[in-house]
Amino acid sequence: MKAILLAGGKGTRLRPLTLNTPKPIVPIFNRPFLMYQLDQLRQVPEITEVILSLNYQPRRIEETFGNGEALGIKISYAVEPQPLGTGGAIKFSAQTVQDSVIVLNGDVLQQIDLQAVIARHRAANAKATIVLTPVDNPSAYGLVETDASGNVQRFLEKPGQDEITVNTINAGVYVLEPDTLDRIPDNETYSIERQYFPSLVANGETFVAYVNDGYWIDIGTPEKYRQVHRDIMDGRYHAAPFLDRAGGIVDLGARIEQDVHIQGPCFLDEGAVIKAGARLGPYAVVGRQVQVDEQAQVRDAVIWANSVVGADAVVEGALVGRNCHIGRNTVVGGGRMLGDRSTVTDYSRL
Ligand code: GDD
Ligand code: MG
Repeated sequence: MKAILLAGGKGTRLRPLTLNTPKPIVPIFNRPFLMYQLDQLRQVPEITEVILSLNYQPRRIEETFGNGEALGIKISYAVEPQPLGTGGAIKFSAQTVQDSVIVLNGDVLQQIDLQAVIARHRAANAKATIVLTPVDNPSAYGLVETDASGNVQRFLEKPGQDEITVNTINAGVYVLEPDTLDRIPDNETYSIERQYFPSLVANGETFVAYVNDGYWIDIGTPEKYRQVHRDIMDGRYHAAPFLDRAGGIVDLGARIEQDVHIQGPCFLDEGAVIKAGARLGPYAVVGRQVQVDEQAQVRDAVIWANSVVGADAVVEGALVGRNCHIGRNTVVGGGRMLGDRSTVTDYSRL
């Protein structure tokens, strides 16, 4: 069985971080995001090949994963000439697909038994199977209504507040039969959510749901991107590098001077330098070669590689890109995002 990973979105909601780093390889700690999904796919013996469906900055992504040999799973690439939308991208990527295919949104992290989803698809002899997850507010997602036996009755993408009837949404994992893709035109923009799924319902085709109660997050917004780091540090989602160290301090080789105070959970990547009197944590994610100067404080923040936090600065509740320079005595907080190579002048308050 082949898997298609939809990873062609521009990541607009994560700008400016995604200007130089496409969303699929935005790091979660020290690993590109898609690595976490590939870890999961690798655990399903039936999945023999992963097709990465790309559009935006494909070269960077291909360089990161290659043919998958080093990761123990075969990876191939389908790069659209222009963005075709989720449905168009699936059609474009599925040219070599002859069997049931599993499709995943490339920006979702979830605890899920993919084998059980495939089994549900087969047991129901379904044309399509969709994984659902409960959320507090479905408005940012695809709302899915089912009957008591789990047959999908309605699919409504981005419902208005007055259209919310249930709390189950599209979790971004599907098993599809190849013949159902015939309705998608070649090389045209087409939405799996707004067109394909509603058409299955309208035609009365066998379209079933698999409700998953495990951890689920779409990392596509700044708040969720910070949240996923906190959740992994807390052990709410079990993943490297915090697999057996939830709540603790993961230090991959930082140089820590005297009188530094670190409160877990925290992550310190290789080559980070933490100067005397600095205070880290809880929830500080300090990237490769980052320098945190004397008496600076970093809490609930993600700082990408090669940035500098000046002396006495406070970084709290923020995302900081690569090669940034945060001056001394500054305050950077309140959900701020600094793009790569930003400079914050000494004594600034953001
Ligand atoms: N190749 C390709 N081409 N991929 C695309 C394109 C495209 O034109 N457009 C979007 N994608 C990829 C994105 O990279 C992402 O991995 C996935 O398709 C979903 O797109 P998003 O832009 O992240 O959509 P969303 O988060 O607003 O909504 C989707 O995900 C929700 C769950 O997180 C929908 O599928 C919702 O129904 C769902 O609930
Ligand atoms: Mg998304």
